[in-house]
Amino acid sequence: MPIQWFPGHMHATRKAIAERMPEIDVVIELLDARLPGSSANPLLAELTRGKPALKVLNKQDLADPDITAQWLAHYQAQPGTQALALDASATAPARQLVAACRTLAPLRGGMVKPLRVLICGIPNVGKSTLINTLMGQRAAKTGDEPGITKSEQRLMLASDVTLFDTPGMLWPRITVAQSGDFLAAAGNIGRNAYDEESVAMALLAAVRARYGQRLRERYKLPDFASLSDEALLAEVGRKRGGLLPGGRVNMQKAAEVALNDFRAGTWGRITLETPEQFTQWWAQGLADDAQRAARRAALLAKKKPSRGGDAPAPEPAG
Ligand code: G4P
Repeated sequence: MPIQWFPGHMHATRKAIAERMPEIDVVIELLDARLPGSSANPLLAELTRGKPALKVLNKQDLADPDITAQWLAHYQAQPGTQALALDASATAPARQLVAACRTLAPLRGGMVKPLRVLICGIPNVGKSTLINTLMGQRAAKTGDEPGITKSEQRLMLASDVTLFDTPGMLWPRITVAQSGDFLAAAGNIGRNAYDEESVAMALLAAVRARYGQRLRERYKLPDFASLSDEALLAEVGRKRGGLLPGGRVNMQKAAEVALNDFRAGTWGRITLETPEQFTQWWAQGLADDAQRAARRAALLAKKKPSRGGDAPAPEPAG
């Protein structure tokens, strides 16, 4: 079942970001290093198009370092983009962030043209943790000022670098099917918006290919190459006390065990997607979207036969 969500308050965040954008020099996007492509908000890409971008792969302590390196190289190769990996153990992240932002906007800085940076990311990506570290380190929160919305915090990262903080924001509809499952597995989506069993199965499907040995060791499993994802999840349940009276596996309990173990990093450092995989999924998602839109248009055209030339031609996109 596809996962969909977009709480109403996120419309307000979207509007606040759009309004702030004209005066922003650099956009820092916090991504989850375990799922960088899936945790990148396409809505944000639209809102910040053309702005120099700093991609921060956060929670790198939980991610596979080899794949994090691939993602960093992937982003560094994009025009107007820098990338770095961080985690909550970084005691002085401001220096790295400021240095990268200055590289991206070399003509800004100093008291006359202070550098204005916006930081954003999806819920639970670790933004508050990072902001708290930054505040503790050197940034001071500025007081109430006109034009600063309640939902927006403003911090001084350096004497000539202002950081605008925004609330976590998701986007209305997922293009890549895998992304919904990965975001749910990583804890970025509210519990009521998804089915834990199907998310746990999708998680195992993604993890078993690259990190099967870790699962075998963790749950003391024999070779499970011939098992379906559902049967593998049942094995996890069996090994972790998830049996119902009569010996049946409690699949809900099995799913909770798998999800909690992944979130806590118990399976070791794991990344769910490489840049190459995500690029393919994204292209597939766009193709599926286009097919759906064409089917819808054909259905509509059948339902409402044209009255002959009285409707204005649609504006071309972009
Ligand atoms: P948000 O503002 O973007 O919504 O995220 P927040 O900072 O609240 O972080 C969400 C969860 O991610 C927190 O865990 C936080 O401790 C954890 N986290 C943040 N940065 C890192 C990191 O670099 N590495 C790891 N491993 N975890 C990180 P929580 O379980 O929700 O809360 P708590 O147990 O820390 O209280």
